[in-house]
Amino acid sequence: MGTLNSEFEALKRLESEFSTDLSHCDDLKALETIRIKYLGKKGAINQYFKRLAEMPVESRAEWGRELNRLKNSFQQELSAKSSALKKQQQRREFVDVSLPGYHSYVGKRHPLTQILDDIKFIFTSMGFTIEEGPEIETDYHNFEALNLPPDHPAREMHDTFYLPGGFLLRTHTSPVQIRVMEKRQPPIRMIAPGRCFRRDTPDASHSPFFHQVEGLCVDENVSFTDLKGVISAFAKKLFGPGVQIRFRPSYFPFTEPSAEYDFSCIFCEGKGCRLCKGTGWLEISGAGMVDPEVFKSVGYDAEKYSGYAFGMGVERLAMLKYQIDDIRLFYENDIRFLDQF
Ligand code: PHE
Repeated sequence: MGTLNSEFEALKRLESEFSTDLSHCDDLKALETIRIKYLGKKGAINQYFKRLAEMPVESRAEWGRELNRLKNSFQQELSAKSSALKKQQQRREFVDVSLPGYHSYVGKRHPLTQILDDIKFIFTSMGFTIEEGPEIETDYHNFEALNLPPDHPAREMHDTFYLPGGFLLRTHTSPVQIRVMEKRQPPIRMIAPGRCFRRDTPDASHSPFFHQVEGLCVDENVSFTDLKGVISAFAKKLFGPGVQIRFRPSYFPFTEPSAEYDFSCIFCEGKGCRLCKGTGWLEISGAGMVDPEVFKSVGYDAEKYSGYAFGMGVERLAMLKYQIDDIRLFYENDIRFLDQF
């Protein structure tokens, strides 16, 4: 009986060997090899059937039953595995040509970067250099050297973020004028693009940070006419040859005379529309002739040199050019917005 027991043990081992083989099998060809190994003419099950004759008579019935049970269960498992593999293969081969293709997003420059690049290109092609200054400024560079002493009422317009130690976040790009003139002698013809900060509550037209481009030209015999010529050439290059410009008297402590300049409305071409509030003109920014006080703070001879300066709001220009009606859209980085430019 001991040997008989070990025969039955062998069948158990066969059963577990079969399930291991099956679990490692992942294609139909390998499955057929397994079928032959266990159920083929010379397969394991048949080999064991042949032993039937050698069994003691009283055990033959049980041996036969056990072998038949194994044979059936192997057959069932093989056919289940076979249909599973066939399904898998079909899935792999199935391509639905009616499905929409994958959309791949191509990176784009931010609309502010695009317009800044345009502005830089236009001015460098007119001989202007590009300068940079720090966003964290001294009170001196942001205000005092620009003829805005501590108690000057025009400071109030700037809603400044003050930092400890006499520093502040620059409220405009005009301090870059001072920094460049401190370092260099005329002739100077420069623009300074950069980020500025003011304590404004965000709404459709205000943001606590925004971009300006400063312009400065200093040389002998620079006049207001030069300023008008440069602004006019810039307007036409950015918005098209039909754009007119106009200057209105205004006040800035660092320019004298000072002006605000407008472009003729690029939407209604001056006829009057919702965007220009019926006036036909779009306000752009301020400009003027450099005040002699400013030349004094950087040690330039105001008798010998004259100059003009101008500012411009980059967001405002981008909003006009791309017809964007809310400044906050620039900073939200919503891909659905950015994808349009
Ligand atoms: N700095 C001014 C502003 O922020 C603009 C300006 C620049 C005006 C240069 C005159 C000359 O409003």
